[in-house]
Amino acid sequence: MNIETVNLNDRSYPIYIGKGASQEPESLIERIKGSDVAIVSDEVVAPLYLELLLKALPDKNVITHILPNGEPEKKLKTAHKIIDHLLENGFGRDATLISLGGGVVCDITGFVASIFMRGVNVIQIPTTLLAQVDASVGGKTGVNHRLGKNLIGTFYQPSAVICDTAFLSSLRPEEMSDGLAEIIKYGLIYDRDFFVWLQSNVSNILEQDRSSLGHAVQRSCQIKAEIVAQDEKEQSIRAILNFGHTFGHAIENQAGYGQWSHGQAIAAGMVLASKLSAKMSLISEDDVEVVKDILLKAGLPVEPPKINVNDFMDTMRADKKVKDRVIQLVLLEEIGNAFLTADYLEQDLEDVLKGVI
Ligand SMILES: NC(=O)c1ccc[n+]([C@@H]2O[C@H](COP(=O)([O-])OP(=O)(O)OC[C@H]3O[C@@H](n4cnc5c(N)ncnc54)[C@H](O)[C@@H]3O)[C@@H](O)[C@H]2O)c1
Repeated sequence: MNIETVNLNDRSYPIYIGKGASQEPESLIERIKGSDVAIVSDEVVAPLYLELLLKALPDKNVITHILPNGEPEKKLKTAHKIIDHLLENGFGRDATLISLGGGVVCDITGFVASIFMRGVNVIQIPTTLLAQVDASVGGKTGVNHRLGKNLIGTFYQPSAVICDTAFLSSLRPEEMSDGLAEIIKYGLIYDRDFFVWLQSNVSNILEQDRSSLGHAVQRSCQIKAEIVAQDEKEQSIRAILNFGHTFGHAIENQAGYGQWSHGQAIAAGMVLASKLSAKMSLISEDDVEVVKDILLKAGLPVEPPKINVNDFMDTMRADKKVKDRVIQLVLLEEIGNAFLTADYLEQDLEDVLKGVI
């Protein structure tokens, strides 16, 4: 088991990474405060891994809350139901919430933990590749609103993240691809060497070669931890983690939540952001092809669905990154280096969306 740390002074916490990491007392039992534990999972993950987790918590008063799976469940009503369940069982400020699931479960569980009794202990046990390398780390929690993704949420750090790579063995190839979208993002925005390594290791990761997968999860968590430690509340550098996401969120919203997975949407979004970067002569057309090439190798889409440009722009304007009605975008300065800007021509953005470029 490897341990990375998110350094945030008194809110610092470990990320445990490795096969079987969820079964180590150090990573789980020692992070639980009090005896009341609520595990939130979904109907796909619970039959696979809940029993294993329950066995690791023999002396605790454990309740389980199992959600239908999928993005449509990520809404305020679901959070409300979990809170009802906690209160009906007499849970209070010393409760610990544990998420056991993908990004949807992690985001909702973190959100509930942040508002229940003004904040209770939460441990994230992500079970998708995407949630291990991204959603569970960094303390962004939330639910969707019908007008946009993640529009309701909080910053709230867990006391530990446990990335048990054994859980990934039951993922479908498309779900591995979704996680790869975020892993590739880290290379593109922060670490050219990691991107180059990924170019020759994408298929090993998809096939769950233990050493390649372990390195990809660890390096991704390290990068996210480094960025979050510098800018927890996204006042500056953390914004680069949204590379492809303003486009991607609009794709998810326009297509209808659940139609395009988050990973697929941000893959197509990263291509759109790369095209705009090339249009502004920040990167070359060849670089755009390199981005498309690695995404295709990872089994991800490189074109958005058919979109109405006006509706798409309206949805992008509802994004949290909008400042004074101007859509802020993360663009590439080069492969391995990204920045946030509102300094682009709206016509160029529209041309990219129309597929002119
Ligand atoms: N908070 C953040 O910083 C952050 C970052 C990135 C993404 N997210 C959010 O994460 C969500 C997407 O996460 P996701 O891609 O994990 O989706 P998901 O949670 O919907 O999981 C995808 C599917 O995989 C199933 N699944 C989960 N673990 C499994 C396993 N081990 N074996 C078999 N099936 C399994 C789930 O039941 C679900 O059907 C989005 O809502 C996105 O907004 C949040």
